[in-house]
Amino acid sequence: MTQPSPFPVLPQGFVWGVSTAAYQIEGAVAEDGRGPSSWDAFCAEPGRVLNGDTGEVACDHYHRYPEDIALMAELGVDAYRFSFAWSRIQPAGSGAVNPLGLDFYDRLVDGLLEAGVTPSPTLFHWDTPLPLEQAGGWLNRDTALRFGEYAGIVGEHFADRIPRWITINEPVVLTMLGYGAGIQAPGLQLGFEALPAAHNLLLGHGLAVRALRAAGAGNIGVANNHAPTWAASDEPADQQAAGLYDNISNWIFADPILTGRYPEAMAGMLPEVPAEDLEIISSPIDWYGINYYNPTAVAAPGFSERQGDEGPALIDGHELDASLPFELVDIDGYPRTDFDWPVIPAGLTELLVSFRERYGDALPPVYITENGAAINDGPDAAGQVADQRRIDYTDAHLRAIAAAIEAGVDVRGYFHWSLLDNFEWAVGNSMRFGLVHTDFETQQRTPKQSFHWYRDVIAGNRARA
Ligand code: NOJ
Repeated sequence: MTQPSPFPVLPQGFVWGVSTAAYQIEGAVAEDGRGPSSWDAFCAEPGRVLNGDTGEVACDHYHRYPEDIALMAELGVDAYRFSFAWSRIQPAGSGAVNPLGLDFYDRLVDGLLEAGVTPSPTLFHWDTPLPLEQAGGWLNRDTALRFGEYAGIVGEHFADRIPRWITINEPVVLTMLGYGAGIQAPGLQLGFEALPAAHNLLLGHGLAVRALRAAGAGNIGVANNHAPTWAASDEPADQQAAGLYDNISNWIFADPILTGRYPEAMAGMLPEVPAEDLEIISSPIDWYGINYYNPTAVAAPGFSERQGDEGPALIDGHELDASLPFELVDIDGYPRTDFDWPVIPAGLTELLVSFRERYGDALPPVYITENGAAINDGPDAAGQVADQRRIDYTDAHLRAIAAAIEAGVDVRGYFHWSLLDNFEWAVGNSMRFGLVHTDFETQQRTPKQSFHWYRDVIAGNRARA
């Protein structure tokens, strides 16, 4: 009998990666002509970000990128997912291009290629150029058009050197937390009135796909956050609330891209849109990226009160508007990360299989573009970071992907979130997702035990080839 492998085994050719995003790691916010973004403005508002942290310095990756590339080479990853800061390249979000901004990404991309790591950038990871945000941001259709132009600029500059592209990151989170609940930039609390932002982000995605292709770039995908939605009970009211939440958090972001239609149940909630928009949004992509963290449990409003519980689940420590037609519910019975997110690897298999069932052959190959855990262990007296819980988390999620592949889902790669501890948005530097520990005082990088473990998993899989 063959022994079960001591490490997760994925098919030959599986892409092993790590991911980051510009505002979370770069720092150097006022350097070399970078223009301000929505996140600079949000961080400057007192009380918005925990402990008053900002991305002004973050991991100082703008200056320390050679060290970070060397870490990736040591880790042995095939690919690195980072993001371009739009306002470094086009400081005002439209018009003039800043050559020094392009220079920085030239240095980064060339350094990665020399180290044998495939650059796999995202064009937009939430840092909207401030002048565009001030003109309505993604609530304004014009931002999508400007984004298409910016995608063309970046595509033309890098098409010959970048073999894998991602248009936008997690439009659902920017829509819900940025424009709906006010937890992230730009900090608006519009509730369902935020939904036009979802449409404009999707339109921006489609325009970017077309602009990249026109520039000769290929192998294009998107990174969407998805979570299986679990109804809190069999009660029809809870089932209905969960169905609505499933549509607004998952399917309005995936259906238009993969089928060219919004879910029928959403008719009437979304603004009326020109049919041509849906054609643009469903421009063929080469692969679909899923960011997975954990399932979401949903009930009809008042559930926790009826149960006599403490109160509804919080999102990153914030309460959602009580007038919403659903309530998020804590999922008990699982280990939790330091962010208090439940650890449910089987949810990833369930999610991948549900994509295959929903879209059939319309689903292109899938990449897991993010997955990881906030585990805040720091260096011990000997300088070692013993983050066994991150190892357990990652091991189990990789096995969950292997199970989905076994069940017929075509998953081609995995980008761990994140290479480094970094600026975790509204909770600042307090939540550590890195395989590498960042000392935010000294900027010292310390590879954690999980880094060595991931390196061995990658090497072990290669040795089986
Ligand atoms: C998703 C986001 O894309 C990323 O920026 C964030 O740090 C991780 N989730 C963890 O919350």
